[in-house]
Amino acid sequence: MQIFIDSANIEEVRRAHEWGVISGVTTNPSLIAKEGRDFIATIKEMISIVGNLPLSAEVVTMDANEMVEQGKRLASIGEGIVVKIPMNEAGLIATNQLAKAGIKTNVTLIFSSTQALLAARAGATYVSPFIGRLDDINQVGMNLIEETSSIFRTHAIETQIISASIRHTAHIIEAALVGAHIATTPFKVIQQMMKHPLTDAGIEKFMADWEESKDNLGSI
Ligand code: G3P
Repeated sequence: MQIFIDSANIEEVRRAHEWGVISGVTTNPSLIAKEGRDFIATIKEMISIVGNLPLSAEVVTMDANEMVEQGKRLASIGEGIVVKIPMNEAGLIATNQLAKAGIKTNVTLIFSSTQALLAARAGATYVSPFIGRLDDINQVGMNLIEETSSIFRTHAIETQIISASIRHTAHIIEAALVGAHIATTPFKVIQQMMKHPLTDAGIEKFMADWEESKDNLGSI
């Protein structure tokens, strides 16, 4: 399973990319708004860091034709751009038209496997089921990833499943186990993935032992 970073923060994208662990970036209008900077300039700056890795940039209109126009403008910014489109009737129309124009799409705000199937059939490159927001309303979000993954596998559907709305590291492991292709992950959760108290304690002990005896150990 690949890791995408779910962020519009340049510093977060830069750091996670430097670690060599991310295979793409996703944003949404809320993440862009949180940064309070020009949308297109932010997208371009992220492209300057991640190059042609897939970078989802979302349309902000409820009209299908405008979605297509915005999608085409976004796609012209860079080779890796994936047009993120909300799951509704206009979104399906726009997804289908953009797919016919050879533009990649990520259908977002997926909360059922029927929505995921429709998005895939409309030509979506990616679908983004939101697991955390389902957990928030007392449903088991991961069931949606498992169900969608099973349907796509059974019917050889090539659309990739992005586990979105990830809240903690257990979501990452579970998404990988039930067959998600990608987990788009907040920076904080990617940081948590690398941490283990036994690793920290082990490093401290190795360094202390080295320091204590280093005069007899030569140099590297
Ligand atoms: O970018 C889509 C998704 O990951 C948002 O997550 O935490 O706002 O539910 P969240």
